[in-house]
Amino acid sequence: MAIRTLLAGVGAYLPERVVTNDDLALRVDTSDAWIRERTGIRQRHLAGPHETCAHMGAEAARGALRDAGAEPADVDAIILATSTPDQAFPATALRVQAELGVDRGFGFDLSAACSGFIYGLSVADALIRTGQARGVLVIGSEVYSRIMDWQDRGTCVLFGDGAGAVFLRPGGEAGRGILSTHLHAQGSLGDILYVDGSVGRHDRPGTLAMNGREVFRHAVVKLAQVVDQALKANGLERSAVDWLVPHQANLRIIDAVGRKLGLPPERVVVTVDRHANTSAASIPLALAEAATDGRIRRGDLVLMEALGGGLTWGSALVRY
Ligand code: COA
Repeated sequence: MAIRTLLAGVGAYLPERVVTNDDLALRVDTSDAWIRERTGIRQRHLAGPHETCAHMGAEAARGALRDAGAEPADVDAIILATSTPDQAFPATALRVQAELGVDRGFGFDLSAACSGFIYGLSVADALIRTGQARGVLVIGSEVYSRIMDWQDRGTCVLFGDGAGAVFLRPGGEAGRGILSTHLHAQGSLGDILYVDGSVGRHDRPGTLAMNGREVFRHAVVKLAQVVDQALKANGLERSAVDWLVPHQANLRIIDAVGRKLGLPPERVVVTVDRHANTSAASIPLALAEAATDGRIRRGDLVLMEALGGGLTWGSALVRY
């Protein structure tokens, strides 16, 4: 029987501090009504000084290992998707490796902006199916509050901090596991969403710049294409999808893809209202929430999709 990659456990970490739209309206010229209407966001979590990319990533990873009934000794590889690493190097993945007490294997950071978790799943799936690793942590951890221009109301209201993780291992029983991943990128669109400047906990890093309307336009078209591609590649109808776990950037984009699939809203996992856009962390955070509260069950067909800076976009179809 062909090896398939199982999602054996999920974990999540959100910073303690919650910042509402009304809190933001004290700092920039915006309002709770504008933010809710255009994005669906009500609040976001913002990291304190101790809530680094590595710390949050390690907390989420611990949760994923616990959920899988696994130990740090079971971890062969750590892939950490982030655009906000704590340092240029060592890779934040290796800071997480040290925090977890994993003393073998390998790890690296993966830069694909908001599509980072989908890219990470794809790489991990290949490592497992080719036998290069058995236990793989894929983590999305982001501290976008450190790359925000807090004077720019067009961007600073949209993002939040947090981390989510999955622990993957080989399986294949009852058709469960990752059925497919599809990755895309178009570097010629790099200037519609980017961050100039360096990384680092203490330096002033670059800040995020975005042409929101252009990103929105590409997101609606490309995400619709990528969900069709995933279903077609697996010979499945839209009606086969039990859960859509989309990247959480904007409720209007999420609704558009849900409608395209003909899914009722209660089959679409939404966290953007409480988390805002946590980039590479948003899908594993949403997945962890819906798997932990019992909505997503073993055997359900789960479709994940994301689009982000690069542009990058992609999908992962999983029999949970
Ligand atoms: N509060 C109040 N007004 C705001 C505002 C805010 N936070 N941000 C922008 N505005 C204003 C603009 O200045 C503009 O005013 P003007 O008409 O007087 O110039 C008006 O609101 C409309 O701005 P616009 O950018 O056209 O709004 P929009 O309907 O396109 O919504 C986004 C803006 C950013 C919410 C929307 O484009 C979007 O979600 N884009 C995708 C972003 C995304 O998903 N990025 C991450 C991808 S991973």
